[in-house]
Amino acid sequence: MSGFLDRLAEQNKGIRSGSATSPKPRPTSARTTGRPPSARGTASAGVATPSGVGASTPRASSPSGRGLSRKSSVNATNETIRKQIGGQLAGAPALPTLAERTNNPGRVRVALRVRPQVEQEIKEGHAVCTTVEPETGKVFLRRNQWDEDIYQFDTVFGESASQIRVYESVAAPIVESVMKGFNGTVMAYGQTGTGKTYTLGQLGDGADGHAQRGIMVRAVDDIFDKTSEDKDAKYKIHASYLQLYMETVQDLWDPTNSDIQIQEDRQTGEVLLEPKPMSVELTDRNHIVQMLQLGEKNRTVANHKLNAHSSRSHAVLMITVSRHTMQNNAPTVQRGKLLLVDLAGSERQKSTQSQGQTLEEAKFINLSLTTLGKCINSLVDQNQQGHVPYRESKLTRLLKDSFGGSARTSLVVNVGPSVQYFSETLNTTKFGQRAIKIENTLRRRELVDYKALCRMQMQQVDLLTAALENAELAREVAENDCTAMQAIIDKEADIENQRNQEMTRLMQQLELKQKEIEEEKQRHNVDMNKSQARLQQQLDMLQEQIQDEQNQAKEAQQAAAKAREEARAAAAKAAASGEGGGKDKIVEVEKIVEKQVVVSMSEPDPKMLMREKKLENVLMILQRELIDLKGKIDDMELKHKQEVTACHQSWQQRLMYELKAKDKQIEYLQKTLEGCKAALSSKGADGASKKVGRSFIDKMLGRKGAELPEQPTKFVRLSSMFNPTVESSPKWVEEVKADVCSSCSIFGQVEDVRVDTHSPKGLIYIAFGNPKTAHRAVVAIKGHLGDISYEFLTETYWKDSVAKLSEVNAKVGQTC
Ligand SMILES: Nc1ncnc2c1ncn2[C@@H]1O[C@H](COP(=O)(O)OP(=O)(O)O)[C@@H](O)[C@H]1O
Ligand SMILES: [Mg+2]
Repeated sequence: MSGFLDRLAEQNKGIRSGSATSPKPRPTSARTTGRPPSARGTASAGVATPSGVGASTPRASSPSGRGLSRKSSVNATNETIRKQIGGQLAGAPALPTLAERTNNPGRVRVALRVRPQVEQEIKEGHAVCTTVEPETGKVFLRRNQWDEDIYQFDTVFGESASQIRVYESVAAPIVESVMKGFNGTVMAYGQTGTGKTYTLGQLGDGADGHAQRGIMVRAVDDIFDKTSEDKDAKYKIHASYLQLYMETVQDLWDPTNSDIQIQEDRQTGEVLLEPKPMSVELTDRNHIVQMLQLGEKNRTVANHKLNAHSSRSHAVLMITVSRHTMQNNAPTVQRGKLLLVDLAGSERQKSTQSQGQTLEEAKFINLSLTTLGKCINSLVDQNQQGHVPYRESKLTRLLKDSFGGSARTSLVVNVGPSVQYFSETLNTTKFGQRAIKIENTLRRRELVDYKALCRMQMQQVDLLTAALENAELAREVAENDCTAMQAIIDKEADIENQRNQEMTRLMQQLELKQKEIEEEKQRHNVDMNKSQARLQQQLDMLQEQIQDEQNQAKEAQQAAAKAREEARAAAAKAAASGEGGGKDKIVEVEKIVEKQVVVSMSEPDPKMLMREKKLENVLMILQRELIDLKGKIDDMELKHKQEVTACHQSWQQRLMYELKAKDKQIEYLQKTLEGCKAALSSKGADGASKKVGRSFIDKMLGRKGAELPEQPTKFVRLSSMFNPTVESSPKWVEEVKADVCSSCSIFGQVEDVRVDTHSPKGLIYIAFGNPKTAHRAVVAIKGHLGDISYEFLTETYWKDSVAKLSEVNAKVGQTC
């Protein structure tokens, strides 16, 4: 026995010399990292069992429900303690270990946070009874110098733990889940003054600085960060802020809504609040700070009225994140709800009684927390099989999904470091230890957004109805246009017919003319032949007469020669007979005969001469007549040839012009037809935009509203035919007129063309031979030039205009 006492005395000495026996607080590092090296080493060794979690399971480690109770008085070696733990574990029920459960995202994560000693505690020299070992997640609670319990949590935070580290470790995974459509809860539990509000609700807006921001502000900040990263979805973030005091739920943003009932949706199990608290759509990260400030202000006013203290009420910030996407063409919404719960102080009732509350009131105040404890106990003890008394308090009804439900939950248990609050610290720790065993079954809240779907479908129905109407209209228009186009085609056929008739008429005219010319030619030929015959006859007659005369002359000569011969013979006879100087008589006769011959030879016959002259004349006339006739025939032939060529050319030119205009018209009609087809085939989503070229058809048909009147006059004014400001040629007016004349005269007669040289509109006035020519010409010109416009003028207007133009233009008028 004495040996035992000696060993005990020896050990006490050792612990006193190296551990936190001093009432004064130890340096931070010592407090954070735990006990004196020897003690820490022992504790670490103590939990480093193969199972690894023996020390974290109070029920398993000690019947009293504490953590591993390590009596310093027992002079145990590390090895002994290890055995001791191993022995205790061996007899414990086979609960799943923390390590085994770590991978289950539904398990409630519990972190313990020890706040630093406040000034007063330091001043009063309170001993520190808590030591955390963040690297292993253990907390050591020292009852006294010899008695220390060890508890294991998911995380432990010492006094120096930063707010950001607490957020990252405790809340960030929950926020991440909420963004994916799960419900999540972060809750702070602990005695008043241990840092619950600091952990959750610190705004970090004033002197305390940005780094001090608690989980509420950081969570919203984080949500906004994440939403801006996700480009595939649209987010809506709404928040409500409630206070739960004495089983009454109040809206901290709408103080008039001070008795909110909690109900449950029978189908989805979702919590329903009635009347609904104000749901504020958060627009940016600073918005939440302002709203929390407003909430705190209202909370102070409300609690003042109720003579209450905020430490006795629970504050709940509810943030709903709706992620809207399209999945399989259906609007889908993932709606995650994040509850951030700053619970009322968990201290035992006697402390509230000491503040003047009756026991009943005090019980009522803490009813919610008590029920929460009961719910957790029954969830843990009955392995979630039996009745869990959620309905016994408003808090548990509100948090039903967070404990034993489908939410992902993190609990921060806040404790003070001073030994003075040891029992409260122990209670809080044990609460955390129970909660750590709860396993929720996570369920994503992804729904087809029926409201949005309904809205979308209604929009679609509206669209389709409108499209149907448009399609109907388009069909009607298209049908009308088809009829109209048929009318155009018919009209075109008429025009074509007319043209053919005209062509036939022209050809007939040409043929007639040719016939006439041919006949005339024949007539001329007959005449020519006649006169030729007549002249030939005359010629023959004359020649006959000449022949006769020549014969007569010959006969006369012969007779003369005979007479001479006879005279000579008579003379010779006389001479021979010697009568009366015969020789002389012969010479005399000779002389007379010679004289006669010379006379007859030298004196031409005047009759003959006359006849010869006549003959010459006849021949000349004949030649001249022949030349004339030939010339006439040649002229006629040339003229005829020219006429035919001119006619052909003009016809060809006109056809070319009309052809071009027709091409344009056909192009337009085809487009219109395509429009009609498209309008007919379209489901009509944009039916209105597919309206076909009605105005064009109207124009073509000269229907109401179109530019072309039903009965055109022969006077026309064309606009945009030239631009006087850019015409540079000195003879541009003449050139314009000549162009217009040649273009228009293809269609028929053009009586007059006037150019309004001073008008910037490029006006040209034309008087056609008749309205039909005018109509044809303008349709063709419009079809050819496109961007011009025309008007048919009354005769009076034409006259007035021409008169004015005559005044204005020095040069006026040109007739084609
Ligand atoms: N981790 C901490 N670090 C620094 N100060 C703290 C910490 N936790 C709490 N405090 C301070 O302790 C006091 C009480 O904290 P509070 O959050 O109001 O406690 P509770 O909400 O639990 O009643 C406050 O002055 C707070 O600033
Ligand atoms: Mg508080």
